[in-house]
Amino acid sequence: MAPRLTTVAEIGRHLDGVVTLQGWLYNRRSSGRLEFLIIRDGTGYLQAVVNQADVSPRTFDRCRELTQESAVRVEGVVRGDRRAPGGYELAVADLEVVAIAEPYPLTLKDHGADFLLDHRHLWLRTPRQHAIMRVRATVIAACREFLDGRGFLAVDTPILTPAACEGTTTLFETAYFDTAAYLSQSGQLYNEAGAMAFGRVYCFGPTFRAEKSRTRRHLMEFWMVEPEAAYLDFEGNLALQEEMVGHIVAKVLEQRRPELERLERDTAMLEKAIPPFPRVSYDQALELLAATEPLKWGEDFGAPHEVALAAHFDRPVFVHRFPAAVKAFYMKPDPERPEVVLGADLLAPEGYGEIIGGGERLADYGLLRARLEQHGLAESAFRWYLDLRRYGSVPHSGFGMGVERVVAWLCGLEHIREAIPFPRLLNRIYP
Ligand code: 4AD
Ligand code: MG
Repeated sequence: MAPRLTTVAEIGRHLDGVVTLQGWLYNRRSSGRLEFLIIRDGTGYLQAVVNQADVSPRTFDRCRELTQESAVRVEGVVRGDRRAPGGYELAVADLEVVAIAEPYPLTLKDHGADFLLDHRHLWLRTPRQHAIMRVRATVIAACREFLDGRGFLAVDTPILTPAACEGTTTLFETAYFDTAAYLSQSGQLYNEAGAMAFGRVYCFGPTFRAEKSRTRRHLMEFWMVEPEAAYLDFEGNLALQEEMVGHIVAKVLEQRRPELERLERDTAMLEKAIPPFPRVSYDQALELLAATEPLKWGEDFGAPHEVALAAHFDRPVFVHRFPAAVKAFYMKPDPERPEVVLGADLLAPEGYGEIIGGGERLADYGLLRARLEQHGLAESAFRWYLDLRRYGSVPHSGFGMGVERVVAWLCGLEHIREAIPFPRLLNRIYP
């Protein structure tokens, strides 16, 4: 019978059967008449044992010439082995060398951060990065599953845009034939058009911020999921956020235990991320911060304030009703206290900072025009956006969740750069 082509992840289905695996050599150890090959195929790692007695002399010699990351196809019998990491190993009958790798720059010892980032294209092959990317994929799938299941229609928003959404200081400008265009900072404004068209929509795509900051949580390019709903008020929007975050955390805990273990993530705090999440107003937050990170009314939070405030809670916490002056032009003022807006940030516990920003939008045509002017934004670029207030304006709300911030939190990463396959940082756009 011809051997079945399979993967490390599926190997358990073929116990005692003959299979072929295609992958790369992760590590090799020799012991006399035995060669122990750790094969990785992207789905996992498997020990393949080559016994000199079972293979041709030529095959055995070729095994001994294999360098780290050489590409190989191996054929053999799947054996159950309690000592093996996944519970299985392969007794090799034949091996085909697809490509011998040159001396590999990433050895199995430790390397510095810059070296690893320079070799991000290879760094992605390691078990730790596999664990992070799998958690990331689950986070993304969980967002879509949650929103699709609640009647939100996926409506993509443009990346090349004529105007700013989140302030003009972090815009990436590019030439658009004979005019200027900007890489999108958020799909929100287009989502608002989508919400008026379809009721509930979301976009999910790359977002660009020319943040001149070199912090552990800022990327120049990151991925954001942004739901927007017509007839959704501020409180309803908070409820939607906490349910979505609760769903994501539950999915990751359910599907990615082995990955969290590999990352040595203490999951006790994650288990607590069950809605409802506490809510504190900006004013209450200032009181809580008075002893540790004092802030004057009207000033925006910095990272130290977020960390100090989150330390008061054992789960994600909403901070709401910020002073209008520190928030974007589109936020609706609180009718009872117009100096604050109906916006909220969701702060992750354990010092991971803001993972969501959102709120109720300004639905009033006249007020919105005034706000644009106060923010120095040219009305001409926002005519279409103002139209949404002219033709059936309704209360509506939405939010944006940064995928990498959430992945960094769930995985317990020191730095957000590991949460995205190819990070764009202040001083780095390679590889
Ligand atoms: O708070 P932000 O700027 O909100 C908006 O862009 C809204 N227009 C979203 C909306 O209401 N539709 O960004 C939202 C989230 C932040 O909470 C954070 O998780 C993430 O995007 N984020 C970043 N992530 C990585 N690097 C950066 N430079 C980020 N800036 C924001
Ligand atoms: Mg924000």
